[in-house]
Amino acid sequence: MTHQVRAVVARGKGAPVSLETIIVPDPGPGEALVKVEACGVCHTDLHYREGGINDDFPFLLGHEAAGVVEAVGEGVTDVAPGDFVILNWRAVCGQCRACLRGRPWYCFDTHNAKQKMTLLDGTELSPALGIGAFAEKTLVAAGQCTKVDPAASAAAVGLLGCGVMAGIGAAINTGNVGRGDTVAVIGCGGVGDAAVVGAGLAGASRIIAVDIDDNKLETAKKLGATHTVNSRNADAVEAIRELTGGFGADVVIEAVGRPETYRQAFYARDLAGTVVLVGVPTPEMKLELPLLDVFGRGGSLKSSWYGDCLPSRDFPMLVDLYLQGRLNLDAFVTETIALDEVEKAFERMHGGDVLRSVVVF
Ligand code: APR
Ligand code: ZN
Ligand code: ZN
Repeated sequence: MTHQVRAVVARGKGAPVSLETIIVPDPGPGEALVKVEACGVCHTDLHYREGGINDDFPFLLGHEAAGVVEAVGEGVTDVAPGDFVILNWRAVCGQCRACLRGRPWYCFDTHNAKQKMTLLDGTELSPALGIGAFAEKTLVAAGQCTKVDPAASAAAVGLLGCGVMAGIGAAINTGNVGRGDTVAVIGCGGVGDAAVVGAGLAGASRIIAVDIDDNKLETAKKLGATHTVNSRNADAVEAIRELTGGFGADVVIEAVGRPETYRQAFYARDLAGTVVLVGVPTPEMKLELPLLDVFGRGGSLKSSWYGDCLPSRDFPMLVDLYLQGRLNLDAFVTETIALDEVEKAFERMHGGDVLRSVVVF
């Protein structure tokens, strides 16, 4: 059997997205059919539409989603019809060297659904980040579904599937922020703001938000930043040192992805502090550093991939904290929109007032 559902498709480079009817197959072995309840609009969706990821058009966009499992294929035991789930980018194998060493986010053998969703004329769709959830129903690998408490709002917890997890995970997993630590977050977009929230969850004593935009700093403050620095008007490194007794922060999280902010992160850490790089640079970006500073300051320089998260461990835990009122995910949902408003949401993204527009079905 197949299912015909409405979905948001990017047909060609730079062209506005269109609302289309697509065909979703019933789940085969190891797959799950998910009735999507909510899906956030992320920069990465826009990046796909602009051809910035690859040229495998047409794309079925959407990847920050939660929904209810409608059917599962042969051999699926972890999730069952009726389960409320958050989707992640790819199922891991559980058997490769990375998985066995407890770092499944670097799994060598990740997978998505094997069967393809198509347009009505049979053209195969490429689902964004292996998900494709701007659709009433989507087909994923069962391992991409993590069952969580159904009492949670789908619009809020679906965001854990991408940017919010990347930021929170940068603080609590990669940075291993501890109670009382001082933390600086450079770049306070969706990812940096989530890092601010993650530092708060971990019990940081000071959370210094750095950005070049005062509006972003206001939002970071609402989410738990204790101090803000506008690095257009001030030297970020000096300001962070001043706010940490002259030392530098125990953990500095970079969430921009540029050489100058990588450099700031490097010098803003305390001796033996930790730098966590979440911002993704472009291939041509370079940074030169005196080796004596690399050697002499000690500590560690880590990059964070998908928040170094383990969905089956982190999603249910963060949903519980959300339901207990200890993790404000609702603050990331600026507005809820209908499926045919994704293109408008892309336009609003550049304005900077929107943390997340979330499609609710
Ligand atoms: N110094 C400080 N902040 C800066 C600078 C700078 N030189 N340049 C830009 N910013 C701020 C912007 O004002 C914005 O608030 O960085 C923030 C970037 O936020 P978004 O564009 O919303 O990006 P986001 O989705 O948060 O992702 C940030 O993390 O996962 C990666 O690929 C992602 O590299 C990207 C980064
Ligand atoms: Zn995303
Ligand atoms: Zn693996």
